[in-house]
Amino acid sequence: MKVLVTGGAGYIGSHTAIVLVDAGHDVTLLDNLSNSSAGAVAAVRQLAARDIAFKRGDIGDVPFLDAVFEDDRFDAVIHFAAFKAVGESAADPLRYYRNNVAGTACLLERMAAHDVSAIVFSSSATVYGEADHMPINEACPLAPTNPYGRTKLVVENMLRDLYAADAAFRVSRVSILRYFNPIGAHPSGTIGEAPQDVPNNLLPYVAQVAVGQREQLQVFGGDYPTPDGTCIRDYVHVMDLARGHLKALEHLAEKPRLAVHNLGTGRGHSVLEVVRAFETACGRSIPYRVIGRRPGDVPVSFADASRACEELGWSAEHDLARMCEDTWRWQATHPRGYNEV
Ligand code: NAD
Ligand code: UFG
Repeated sequence: MKVLVTGGAGYIGSHTAIVLVDAGHDVTLLDNLSNSSAGAVAAVRQLAARDIAFKRGDIGDVPFLDAVFEDDRFDAVIHFAAFKAVGESAADPLRYYRNNVAGTACLLERMAAHDVSAIVFSSSATVYGEADHMPINEACPLAPTNPYGRTKLVVENMLRDLYAADAAFRVSRVSILRYFNPIGAHPSGTIGEAPQDVPNNLLPYVAQVAVGQREQLQVFGGDYPTPDGTCIRDYVHVMDLARGHLKALEHLAEKPRLAVHNLGTGRGHSVLEVVRAFETACGRSIPYRVIGRRPGDVPVSFADASRACEELGWSAEHDLARMCEDTWRWQATHPRGYNEV
């Protein structure tokens, strides 16, 4: 298949691009580099050992998208491009609605105009908000608790409305993937997560402490109703996640459908378990201090990933130890991401 990967220079997009190329697909990356760098594109090309096409531009730019869709006939779009920082979304919600919602509407219009029928959309477990029971399955109520999560839910609803409204609407193959907590890096250590500012997420922060770039980890809350008092999340290896996209594409190729799948391991780990696993992986101690809770954090979140197993034939293969080893290989060799090795 010929696949356009929006947000293809980003963390999950770059890993998915490699998995697609390895599976024999023809990949074009599209990114405005608002949260990534040309170095990521170069690293993907080097790892793939081929000159993968890269279109630099914005999903909200109609002439740019028309040119992209006129240049090549794509079978599918995997749509990663979005802003993703929860705190920033609360401070500047319109920026998030414009980029994530209006940008996606624009992309869908241009896909329809150019007869591209299949889209795989990056949604998030954040759409569930404070789920009332664990594990979380796809039928759980959708009630995100922050503007970022609400942009994901609006796009999910937009896709459902489009799919239901008009059989003639050309985007008739829709896969919504709700990721839990993606971590890890390609086993080569040549691509990985490269946050441009202070990391918001646990793993990149822990990795930066391990490499000596930050003094200590702040653990947000030690008084949750969990065995060690810290929050529990479902960490999933980014290579497993990338393979999930391949499976979703194959599922869409079978027939027009709208499908929703959780992508997680079905296992939860506490913040302190992650710290210990990372210490083992890097052979160093990770200084940390338990501070107050971070507003908006739910105590426990992990997936029921059985639907993805039954319908896509996908399940996560890598455990937490492997996720930490691969993160460390990337971080140790790229302490400042792609920019300064
Ligand atoms: P990322 O920031 O590394 O990648 C997103 C990429 O999209 C970046 O390279 C950025 O430059 C690009 N981009 C943003 N807006 C754009 C626009 N208007 N036009 C073109 N390019 C644009 O993030 P990621 O972690 O790889 O996340 C990918 C997707 O997965 C996002 O949609 C995110 O919301 C979703 N997601 C991520 C997580 C996570 O924890 N990483 C969890 C659940 C869902
Ligand atoms: N944490 C710390 N210290 C830090 C960073 C995080 O203790 O410096 C804790 C958090 O409090 C939480 C856990 O580590 O308990 C995981 O936090 P992350 O920020 O890594 O992940 P979240 O579960 O909060 O959210 C992530 C993404 C969201 C996405 C969600 C899906 O950031 O975009 O997973 O479940 F929507």
